[in-house]
Amino acid sequence: MRILVFSDTHIGGKFNNEMFEKGVNLINQTDADFYLFTGDLTDQGTLQEYKDATEKFLPKIKKPVLYVPGNHDVKNVGDLLWEEFLGPRYFVHVDEEKKVKILGLDSNEPDKNTGRIGEKGIKRIYSEFSGLDESWTKILVFHHQTLPIKYTGRERSAITDAGDVIDAILKCNVQLVVNGHRHISNVYLLSDSDDSSLVVNCGTMSCRKTRYKEEYSLTLIDFDLPSRQAEVQVIQLNNGDEPVASTRFKGRVAKRLAPQTKRNWGKLLARIIQIGNTEFSDTNFKSETFAKMVSIVNLMDCELVVHCGDVTSSSYFSEFSMAKIFMDQIQHPQLIVPGPRDYFPLGYELFRKYFYRR
Ligand SMILES: [Fe+2]
Ligand SMILES: [Fe+2]
Repeated sequence: MRILVFSDTHIGGKFNNEMFEKGVNLINQTDADFYLFTGDLTDQGTLQEYKDATEKFLPKIKKPVLYVPGNHDVKNVGDLLWEEFLGPRYFVHVDEEKKVKILGLDSNEPDKNTGRIGEKGIKRIYSEFSGLDESWTKILVFHHQTLPIKYTGRERSAITDAGDVIDAILKCNVQLVVNGHRHISNVYLLSDSDDSSLVVNCGTMSCRKTRYKEEYSLTLIDFDLPSRQAEVQVIQLNNGDEPVASTRFKGRVAKRLAPQTKRNWGKLLARIIQIGNTEFSDTNFKSETFAKMVSIVNLMDCELVVHCGDVTSSSYFSEFSMAKIFMDQIQHPQLIVPGPRDYFPLGYELFRKYFYRR
């Protein structure tokens, strides 16, 4: 199964018509099973931009495209215009013959750059995908990213409920997630102990706001459910006269073949116990729970106890000295890293004094 994805055309302010034409040629010449658009069709969501998009530009595309809106499309009450010009802001596309279900969601919050799938959207992920037979390919499409993406600077616009959405994706065994928004392509393989999901981010096709060295691109995804083989290619439009494709991912989006048990691990190399957020203080620290943990951990075979930070609640001197007394009750070697709560003013010096060992 082949999917061609294009995104972030930004028809209006930052629109690059030459790249749009090149992209349209590529779309029209590509033989794919599905064509997806992952948002930011317009630049400001204005009436004129919607008119230009739907009357002038989109009719050049001769393939059936499934569209979801982006944050720029819902600016200035553009969400209402989207519904008028393009239809609903979400879709469910079912191909019985190919056994493919594609769910498109609106991840936008009007007039904000951040996104959110929300309770309704998450329920929809479960209702569309959780009961579906394993012979079906499940694809989830929305505009914003769930995870920060390389070469995009400070993260400030991922969906705010990413944790719940990632959990739903993995629990429903959605094999492909397709996003746009960041104007640069990216691929992640998400995994839990049961299954994997390929998260593909498409770059911008025709917006002059590009990122780092990748400018205008489309993304081609090949996926074969029986073998779970996938290949993701990014096709750059402005590297010379002809579009240039390069492979970004090639491998299995694999379900684990056999459950891993202690028996087939071979020799156990080390056992590490991880703790965190003890927040030693007069207010947040629970001494009974900590004592219980110490009595369990001290009876275990263990090479290292790792404390992942927020040892104290507010970096006070009294909290660090309390922490030292309690942590010394653990009879295994320890590795302790500071958290933000340990680095309030002077905390970095106290942390060093109590826990940094050469
Ligand atoms: Fe965009
Ligand atoms: Fe966007």
